[in-house]
Amino acid sequence: MRFSSTTLIAGLVVASVDARGVNIENLDKRATPTVYLAGDSTTAKTGGLLMGWGEYLPPLLTGITVVNKAISGRSARSYTNEGRFTELTNLVKTGDIVVIEFGHNDGGSPNSASDNGRSDCPGTGSEVCTSGKTGEKVYTFNYYVETAAKALIAKGASVIFSSQTPNNLWEGGVYGGYGTPVRFVGYASQAAKNLASTTGKASFVDHYQAVANMYLKLGSTKTNSLYPSDHTHTSPEGADLVAKAFAQAVKLAWNGTTPLQGFLKAGNPNVF
Ligand SMILES: *[C@@H]1O[C@H](CO)[C@@H](O)[C@H](O)[C@H]1NC(C)=O
Repeated sequence: MRFSSTTLIAGLVVASVDARGVNIENLDKRATPTVYLAGDSTTAKTGGLLMGWGEYLPPLLTGITVVNKAISGRSARSYTNEGRFTELTNLVKTGDIVVIEFGHNDGGSPNSASDNGRSDCPGTGSEVCTSGKTGEKVYTFNYYVETAAKALIAKGASVIFSSQTPNNLWEGGVYGGYGTPVRFVGYASQAAKNLASTTGKASFVDHYQAVANMYLKLGSTKTNSLYPSDHTHTSPEGADLVAKAFAQAVKLAWNGTTPLQGFLKAGNPNVF
């Protein structure tokens, strides 16, 4: 078949301007931005007696769509290796936000013969471990989340590193929230610092501290009632409160302003 030069020119015109005369480049930005959540079971849509906090974020926000991409059992490493950050990088458009919250499944030693495919290499820099099980090169939490964030930011998104939630801090009836938080809290904060200076598109929310403060206020009986099966996973009521603690930390801009602040509903309750 022969194509006329007119067809060819029409094709080129369509490539830059759509039928309404809107420049295609502008279509890269959504009318309503999306916030994607990357995380584990504590954020994910789980079920039965349990629920992750991401499912309770939508009612606290306005003018932005929430897409919960958290999956049970994942760490920064396994989320990376399964291509889930790549999927997010393909999905995001200019003005979108990605919240990255990992830590519950990131501990342990990848060097061991029973490497579970989730443990990160200890450290916050360019340390590399070798899986004692598969020989896979294993990188640090910071390597995984910062590599993902750079790709997301290159697509026009901004990234919020959120520290993992604490476990039940009233286990055994004694408040355990006064000590040093788990190491992934500092790692997430460090990731934001590392990228904020170079990209201006990374920020940090200390979700761990927000929930710890909330549990101190709720007390032992109430907090224990939010953990129906173990000390990590909350009930739907607990997930709702953990989402509200996140929203309050965003509102207070404790650890710096994040791009979600402008999307908070005015009437959100204070939970700590
Ligand atoms: C974030 O800010 C809160 C409130 O000032 C503080 O308690 C917490 O330690 C900060 N988190 C980090 C990791 O610096």
